[in-house]
Amino acid sequence: MARFLFNLHLFIIIFIFIIVVVSAKPHRSSQVLGPAVGFGKEKISHLRFYFHDIVSGPKPTAVRVAAAASTNKSPTFFGAVVMTDDPLTERPDPNSKLFGRAQGFYASASQEELSFLMAMNFAFVDGKYNGSTLSILGRNMVFSKVREMPVVGGSGLFRFARGYAQTHIHTANFTSGDAVVEYNVHIIHY
Ligand SMILES: *[C@@H]1O[C@H](CO)[C@@H](O)[C@H](O)[C@H]1NC(C)=O
Ligand SMILES: *[C@@H]1O[C@H](CO)[C@@H](O)[C@H](O)[C@H]1NC(C)=O
Repeated sequence: MARFLFNLHLFIIIFIFIIVVVSAKPHRSSQVLGPAVGFGKEKISHLRFYFHDIVSGPKPTAVRVAAAASTNKSPTFFGAVVMTDDPLTERPDPNSKLFGRAQGFYASASQEELSFLMAMNFAFVDGKYNGSTLSILGRNMVFSKVREMPVVGGSGLFRFARGYAQTHIHTANFTSGDAVVEYNVHIIHY
């Protein structure tokens, strides 16, 4: 009897020990999902459009809203924050069809090279994309030939979006500061 009780106690202690060890393990779980119900098939889309960053003239679409005391002495304008409502058009011509607007900000985030933190929503207004958005968060090295920024999400037609945007300067006027930038956006979404 005593031996049985001893075994029982030992068993209970070991059992509790196992439970404590098992439940203390970090929780990681994932499930393989079938096609998301109601979302159809995942697809990859490529969008190309032109971003008009207009800083000069009577109706700028990009305005500096903040800066540090030292920003104007910095060769890279370190600390400048520029809020944008830049038109996105189908072709480089600013009067071509409006595809959407780039609403957000870019901020000079490097003291060594001209490099911006980009945090923007692309709000589309054309056709089936009307009302849908893509969110961009990334590093924009202005003078690199091609810059790449992550697409971190989207709404509407672009729910669950992930992907990247590659950009290069189409034309820039170094006197006025205005620029037309080509965007090629590749996204996976439903
Ligand atoms: C986009 O949607 C808005 C709001 O629903 C509507 O007023 C506008 O006419 C639409 N634009 C186009 C180009 O379809
Ligand atoms: C560049 O900007 C300056 C100043 O706004 C303007 O006078 C000039 O015509 C522009 N150049 C081109 C090629 O658009």
